[in-house]
Order: sequence, then structure tokens, then C-alpha cells
Amino acid sequence: MNDACAYVIFGATGNLATTKLLPALYHLDQADRLGPGLRIICSGRRPLTAEAWLALVREAIVGKARGGLDETLFARFARRVEYFRGDLEDPGLFQRLGERLAALGASKVAFYMSIGPDQYGGVISQLGEAGLLSEERGWRRVVIEKPFGHDLSSAADLQRRLGRYLQEYQIYRIDHYLGKATVQNVLVFRFANLMLEPVWNRHHIDHVQITHSETLGVGSRAGFYDGTGALRDMIQSHLLQLLSLVAMEPPVSMEAEALRDEKVKVLKSIRPLVKSAVHAQAFRAQYAAGEIAGKPVPAYVQEDRVDPRSVTETYAALKLYVDNWRWRGVPFYLRTGKRMAEARSLVSICFRHPPLQLFRGTPVECMNPNWILLGIQPEECLRVQLTAKQPGLEMLTQQISLDAQFRGDPSQTTDAYEGLLLDVIEGDRSLFLRYDEVESAWRVVEPVLDVWAMERDYIPTYPAGSWGPKDARRLFDREEHRWRQTLDPNEVAD
Ligand code: BG6
Repeated sequence: MNDACAYVIFGATGNLATTKLLPALYHLDQADRLGPGLRIICSGRRPLTAEAWLALVREAIVGKARGGLDETLFARFARRVEYFRGDLEDPGLFQRLGERLAALGASKVAFYMSIGPDQYGGVISQLGEAGLLSEERGWRRVVIEKPFGHDLSSAADLQRRLGRYLQEYQIYRIDHYLGKATVQNVLVFRFANLMLEPVWNRHHIDHVQITHSETLGVGSRAGFYDGTGALRDMIQSHLLQLLSLVAMEPPVSMEAEALRDEKVKVLKSIRPLVKSAVHAQAFRAQYAAGEIAGKPVPAYVQEDRVDPRSVTETYAALKLYVDNWRWRGVPFYLRTGKRMAEARSLVSICFRHPPLQLFRGTPVECMNPNWILLGIQPEECLRVQLTAKQPGLEMLTQQISLDAQFRGDPSQTTDAYEGLLLDVIEGDRSLFLRYDEVESAWRVVEPVLDVWAMERDYIPTYPAGSWGPKDARRLFDREEHRWRQTLDPNEVAD
């Protein structure tokens, strides 16, 4: 019997599918990782002929294909792909889909929800009612994009709805940050090198910063973003995941449940924010008009489809404490923003000063702390920043860094979605979120969301193209704390 595998993408004509999923599947095909029988069924609402759809697929891949589009390979890839038109509200779509999957003999099916979060529940019910989630033969897996819910209670509702048709092991809650090479390297770096463990704690680390900045604005996503904001969009998911990896205890194994158990423990150890402390521990702002790469760009409220009175934050910063033996008292500063000066994701770990300032009052003032910088993008690197003597007769110091670049040959660089899409087919859930992780992450941000939701009159702004509002500094525990913007050891404080 044919035991074929199928990826069904709902929302295939949308932004995520065309910019990420289809190029990722093409690259997996190029690497011979898809298996000969795998079919890609692309479901969308638009009336498109097979040729018109393939032309769109080609357009989506051509600009992304590493080393340029390989025509022979694209022809092979195109034979896997088919367009499946239909309205997600129409039960007839799911019946036809079932017939098509049966005709293909597909017993292993992954359904990818590349659709609006408010549609997840409905589509899964339809799939369930049509019998498409039953695993009588083969497997059925569902990939759910973030955000999983809009807050704690809607996440719980969605989870209940999913639970009617799916077992937890069938659900793949994706956070594409976990597919990024350097993010995975946080684990390898921490747990494959013994020398770090003795210093990876409150006795040696002063504070941790996790920054994700973008130069892009809201673009065409205002419909989603204006009701979401930076805290939900980036911090609740990606940045809290990064925090868990930096802060977690060594898992008992690299098996999915062991890894996720440790991440959940971190999220549960985060000191709950009380509403009266929200202003001291959270900061939000919105971009005003400014310049990016020398070109003027409009304010958020002037963007297409944004309510001109919107107070949705495009910048959010948070100070959190992980109340456990390892981290008690160490502030974790999380920050994200759109339309910032540079696009960068960076984990910066700042060490404490030596116990005695032996060089105080001499030309060798050792006032710079050590840093470990984990560049996630655009540079994929690890940098250890130290103080050393300047060459020459004088006893003067300089900042130096020990560097490891992770990215080698650019043609070997894979996108986060490639590994994750493959993990789904291979049934490896270690890089996907378990429900209790999502729930704990909502618990962390919910007090902030509640307070901000009540304060609808005013939001501070920052000029597009800047490093964000200066007032966000009020989160810092100590005067000498400053945002780390770059990997440059001689960075000048903003
Ligand atoms: C997405 C957010 O999850 O991550 C976007 O919805 C954000 O707003 C994006 O731009 C950032 O991802 P990356 O991989 O470009 O850093």
C-alpha cells in the first residue's frame, strides 16, 4: 500500500507561506529530505489555475533559492505541489480534501495553520468533524503558528477546542526562533562546555539583556498587528523562549519532554508582576515618523490600515526576575521594537565586576565588565568581551573580544523554518512548545497587558530609525546599566 506523506498548508497564498514555508520546503527538497512521495497541498481562497499557482510558487522561491533557482529541481518540486481552492468556513472543502488525501494514499498528514489565529479553532473543528485528524492509519499532525491565543483565557479556550480532536503529541506549536541556528547554539554552548557552568549564575552574572530590533515597520500586517502589539507579538513568545534557554537548568536528556520540562520551570519561576509594579518593570512606545537608511518613513499611526488613534505599542521592554537558586536577584531585560536603528537579535550577558578594583586610580581602571554576547541575527556569533592591556610601555587597558563566528559558507545557511518543517515530518517535538509553556508565558505578560489595556489615552513615541525611547532606561536596576546595541566591544553607550 502507498504510504505517502502530505503537507497541507492552509493560507497558502498568504505572507508566511510564500515568504517562508514554500522556500523552506523547496530547500528541503533540494537537500533530499522530503522523501519521494511527499505532496504539498496548498489551500487558498483565491481562484487560481494550477499554472497560475505554480507561477506564484516560482516567484516566491526564486528570490530565496540559495545559489539561485535550479530549474531541474524546481520542476521536481512543482510536481509535488498542488493548489486546492476553498473557503475555510465551508465543510465541503474538508470533505473534498479528505477525498483527495485518500486518492493520494496519504496516511501521514501534517496540517499547517498559516492562517489568522482566530481561524485555528474553526479549521481544527472542521478537520476533526471530517475525520481528517483520526490516526487509524499513519499519523496526523497539526502545526500552529503563534500567537496561541490572545491572552491566558483565550489560549485556554483554544486548547480545550483542540483537545476535542487532538492528542497533545499531535500538536506542534511553532515558535520559529527555536529553529534558528544560534538559538539552538545557546543549548550547545551552555551544556556541551563545562567551563561556563560555574559562572552561569547570580554569583557572577550581573544582568542579562535580550534584544530583538527591526528596521521594518508594520508593513502589510497592520490588520493583525494593531490588535496585537509588540508585547504579544515578540515578547510573549520568542523573547521568553530565549530567556528560558539562557536560564534553564541542564535537562536530564535532550529528549523533547525533558527539555520542555526545564523551560517551563524557568517560566514558572519568573516573579509574577503585580499590577502596581507594571510601570516600574514594563515600558511601551510607538514609532513616530523618522528615517530609515536615509529615507523618510511614516509614523505607525499613518501606516495603512492602522487606526490613527491607535495606542498599540511597536516597542516593548520588560524587566523580569527569575526567582530560583541560580538567578535570584539578576534582572533580565527584554526589549523589542519595530523601526529601530538596526535589525538585530542579541543576547547579552553582563558579568559582575571583579571583587576588588585593583587598578582603581591607576591608568588601568578596570571599569568595563565582561560580556558574553550571543548574536542571533544578522551575525551568528559568540563573543566574549574582556579587558586586556594595551600594547606598549604604558599600563593602559583596552576592550578585546574572543570571537566565534558560527556562520560559515552562506550557501549552507538554512532558514529556521526548514529544520522545523522537517521536525514535524520526523515527529520531533523538542523545538515546539508544549501547552504549559504557552500558558506560563501568558501568565508572565498578562498583568502588563491588563494595565496597558486600561491606559488607552497616551503612548510615548520614538522616532523611527532610533534605538527606541530614552525613558525605557527607567527599567534599569542600576545607574551603570545601559542597553547593549551592538557586538562592538567599544560600543559607546546610547
Ligand atoms: C514574527 C513576528 O513572529 O517574528 C513579526 O510576528 C516579526 O512581527 C518576526 O517581525 C521576526 O522574526 P525574524 O525571524 O525576522 O527575526
